Amino acid sequence: MIEREAVRALALVGLPGSGKTTVGRQLSRRLGVDFIDTDAVIEQHLGESIRSFFEREGEDRFRDVETEVLLGLIAGLPAGGAPAVLSTGGGIVLRPANRAALASAAATLYLRSSPEELFRRLRHDTQRPLLQVADPLKKLRDLFHVRDPLYRETAAFVIETGRPSVATLVNMILMQVELAGLVDPAIVPSPVEPRPA
Ligand code: S3P
Repeated sequence: MIEREAVRALALVGLPGSGKTTVGRQLSRRLGVDFIDTDAVIEQHLGESIRSFFEREGEDRFRDVETEVLLGLIAGLPAGGAPAVLSTGGGIVLRPANRAALASAAATLYLRSSPEELFRRLRHDTQRPLLQVADPLKKLRDLFHVRDPLYRETAAFVIETGRPSVATLVNMILMQVELAGLVDPAIVPSPVEPRPA
């Protein structure tokens, strides 16, 4: 059970390519609230791309920055009002402090996709440092194996991304967060179109 008073954000977690940024942006528009992307804030903070920082400084240093940015962002959001939508980097769940913050101060949604589906979307990607390897599908399978339990542990809601369009996914999310009492029901579309009078 999520306490609405404690919720500062609707946070999206999931593997790279699961649609966190696209879905998050549309969700925030529908709710009329701010959209924050942790990766974009990290890049602003670093003054360079994640890929170049990651390649020069290594993953551990990147994770330190990621935690600092996430905890700072969450602390800066007001609790109990209309929650901002927060899209996160795929590895955010690796650090226990991040998982604790996302589980307690946010209502977290896991956009769950299979490694094969993600590979189809990301096979031409050049920006994600972890996927610049000889066999990105194997890498996605390894990441799924390690992270799927962590996303599940952190998230209050699991959304299977599968086939639905972004608009359908956003409607599914809106219905779930409305049922949980986290947003104003007036925003949420009715599943059945009203008959014309
Ligand atoms: C990462 C995912 C990226 C970014 C960084 C590390 C990961 O974000 O934070 O490259 O560990 O999976 P996206 O999930 O938005 O690609």
